[in-house]
Amino acid sequence: MSKALTIALSKGRILGETLPLLEKANIIPAEDISKSRKLIFDTNHEHIKLVILRATDVPTYVEHGVADFGVAGKDVLMEAGTKNLYELLDLKISKCRLMTAGVVGQTLPTRRLKVASKFSKTAKAYFAEQGIQADVIKLYGAMELAPIMGLADLIVDIVDTGNTLKANGLEARDLIAPISTRLVVNKAAYKTKYAEIEPILEMLRKAVEENE
Ligand code: ATP
Ligand code: PRP
Ligand code: MG
Repeated sequence: MSKALTIALSKGRILGETLPLLEKANIIPAEDISKSRKLIFDTNHEHIKLVILRATDVPTYVEHGVADFGVAGKDVLMEAGTKNLYELLDLKISKCRLMTAGVVGQTLPTRRLKVASKFSKTAKAYFAEQGIQADVIKLYGAMELAPIMGLADLIVDIVDTGNTLKANGLEARDLIAPISTRLVVNKAAYKTKYAEIEPILEMLRKAVEENE
């Protein structure tokens, strides 16, 4: 008998791109996730369940081993800095860039920089690595407001089309990391459930290739 497997999925924009990939890998939820308020779903495989989480909670569930697999953005994984998991596969969906951004045409002050971000740990590590002195202010959303309101000189945020920055009089400055969605697995589960995990991984690999 197959060992039980739980896959933690990020809700929001990633979910819409993850479900077709899972379907190509023949993992199909027993009911329509988008039409349900449920957070845990059976699939066409008796031993596989899906749980739908806030993106930032995915690494936590996988780290603690209550979910075996997780699907999360590289930005979220970098910020979580979780040690207890392997990044197995780049799913190549929800692609964007993690960048610094500031007010259009504004030069940076010579004093210590003020940087606002939801990605505060990543931002701290980035500026430290660059040898730039910066105080990082943690925000939970609408980061574009921070430079306009004078809370920060720069922000660290996700950029895709650049429309959000432009609409708020900001411009992208430096690339911190290219971002896409990754499949992660709990380290212990990868060993103990290898027989169940490997075929799923193989199917997902093919699904990603087909998507390209
Ligand atoms: P929440 O609003 O619940 O805090 P969130 O804003 O992080 O969540 P989403 O907007 O659904 O959630 O984004 C999830 C992931 O998708 C991000 O972690 C990132 O990897 C990627 N992403 C975010 N914004 C974009 C974008 N504009 N274009 C492409 N991918 C993006
Ligand atoms: C994300 C991100 C940026 C925007 C970038 O926001 O936080 O604000 O996308 O995309 P763009 O370069 O194409 O404009 P999202 O749409 O997820 O809204 P949120 O602030 O509710 O997360
Ligand atoms: Mg978002």
